[in-house]
Amino acid sequence: MSYQIAIDGPAGAGKSTIAKIVAKKKGFIYVDTGAMYRAMALHMIKNNIDGNDSEKVAKECDNANVTLKYIDGEQVVLLNDENVNAFLRTEEVGNMASITAKNPTLRKKVTDLQIELANTNDVVMDGRDIGTCVLPNAQVKVYLTASSEVRAKRRYDELMAKGESADIKKIEEDIILRDHQDMTREISPLKQADDAVLVDSSNMTIEEVADKIISLCE
Ligand code: CDP
Repeated sequence: MSYQIAIDGPAGAGKSTIAKIVAKKKGFIYVDTGAMYRAMALHMIKNNIDGNDSEKVAKECDNANVTLKYIDGEQVVLLNDENVNAFLRTEEVGNMASITAKNPTLRKKVTDLQIELANTNDVVMDGRDIGTCVLPNAQVKVYLTASSEVRAKRRYDELMAKGESADIKKIEEDIILRDHQDMTREISPLKQADDAVLVDSSNMTIEEVADKIISLCE
């Protein structure tokens, strides 16, 4: 079996930053499952689909083909063969992703691709349901979290670094709403797997968190 490291947790916990470092150190591929949900959400936005209209979302899934490729170790998300990486990390797409990720048809489509990737590669995969649903037999499972205040500050700093304007209070409100949506949905809700190690990164550096996860692989 391939080696699988599953990292789940709420928005802004630092999953992608940590997962990338761990993947590099281990020589595994990094699979950002949130980016797949974001690409599906982008497709729905582009086609004016109401994210809460489950029938329309399910139907539109047939027209959205998401695939991944790796260029110099970086994950590139292709939506109908177009590289959409540059459009995925906006608040609008993130909020839509949290809504459309409730859709069972959409989840099955995205999850099947994740399982295929993990069956054929050693992976560090981050998301909401990786340890609980997608890779239940992962050798290492981590539930990475931090206070909503710290997570909002990190997201704010990320946007500032990109030269975008942002309101930190609004970001924290969005984060709390998204956590609620992700944790209370019927299908694959965000929760700590019984066999996952809880890591609260509120007072930890990136290196400390990455080292902690690497130590779990030994
Ligand atoms: O980076 P951030 O944590 O803000 O979000 P993300 O990982 O890019 O995920 C965006 C949204 O996709 C989340 O709010 C979830 O609703 C959904 N998602 C999911 O349902 N399952 C996953 N495995 C990954 C993301």
